[in-house]
Amino acid sequence: MSSKYLTILNIIIFITSLFTFSYIITSSFSSSLSSPSLQTSKSLTKNSHFDFCPTNFTNYCPCEDPKRQKKFPNKKWFRKERHCPKANERLKCLIPKPKGYQKPFHWPKSKDNAWFSNVPFTKLVEYKRLQNWIRLEGDRFVFPGGGTSFPDGVEGYVDDLKKLLPVSLNSGWIRTVLDVGCGVASFGASLMEYGVLTMSIAPSDEHEAQVMFALERGLPAMLGVFSTHRLTFPSNSFDMAHCSRCLVQWTAYGNISIFFFSLDNT
Ligand SMILES: *[C@@H]1O[C@H](CO)[C@@H](O)[C@H](O)[C@H]1NC(C)=O
Ligand SMILES: *[C@@H]1O[C@H](CO)[C@@H](O)[C@H](O)[C@H]1NC(C)=O
Repeated sequence: MSSKYLTILNIIIFITSLFTFSYIITSSFSSSLSSPSLQTSKSLTKNSHFDFCPTNFTNYCPCEDPKRQKKFPNKKWFRKERHCPKANERLKCLIPKPKGYQKPFHWPKSKDNAWFSNVPFTKLVEYKRLQNWIRLEGDRFVFPGGGTSFPDGVEGYVDDLKKLLPVSLNSGWIRTVLDVGCGVASFGASLMEYGVLTMSIAPSDEHEAQVMFALERGLPAMLGVFSTHRLTFPSNSFDMAHCSRCLVQWTAYGNISIFFFSLDNT
């Protein structure tokens, strides 16, 4: 990687250089801490048929509910972990599609295009306008491959990354990658061209659920945060882990470190 990225952008890349590492990541499981009250839908009928939730529940994600999150302490990003409602507080209804939802673009067109009506969020476009992550063009989003860490676009970034890697990206040594703090997953999208499959994770944050864009693009993604629980992947699931300005304080909390420990399951 050219030094400009390395120094400026605080990139952390873990590679299984001798392929002796394995990676597993923290995640977030239900917590039994006190839970705020949530209205429970009474729409469960005798035949176990679930009705749709009200339309404002389109983006409802039970264990990642921002309103619930606020009730939990923020230390170690605990708040951003999954906090599922107790059994008696769970909604029993189906999440409705957004209004005007249409069939997503097929791959590979979906890599760069998504219907606005399917992910009708505009905040990210405003916040990240200068960084060129995502643009709204008429009825669709386009993903130009920009990112906070990608001043030359994600392709330039990956070209620089290739110089740093001990093996070539399409050698088959790196088949799976975990991207921590993935934005709209342009990094993972770019690695697809090398036959590398990336799981992108990002917390649901004030920039809206960025993984929704990733999923709409047809890229594997999930909500997740490095906190007190591990991710759900078994040991050796990932040949490489990548984080670029992901705001994980790798050396925080004394040990070297709870987060590294979470990352490296061996
Ligand atoms: C939807 O609206 C109802 C009524 O205003 C409110 O009680 C509920 O919390 C809302 N749900 C979401 C997920 O915003
Ligand atoms: C870090 O944590 C591990 C696992 O909990 C423990 O075995 C190790 O002794 C700790 N290292 C330091 C330097 O505290």
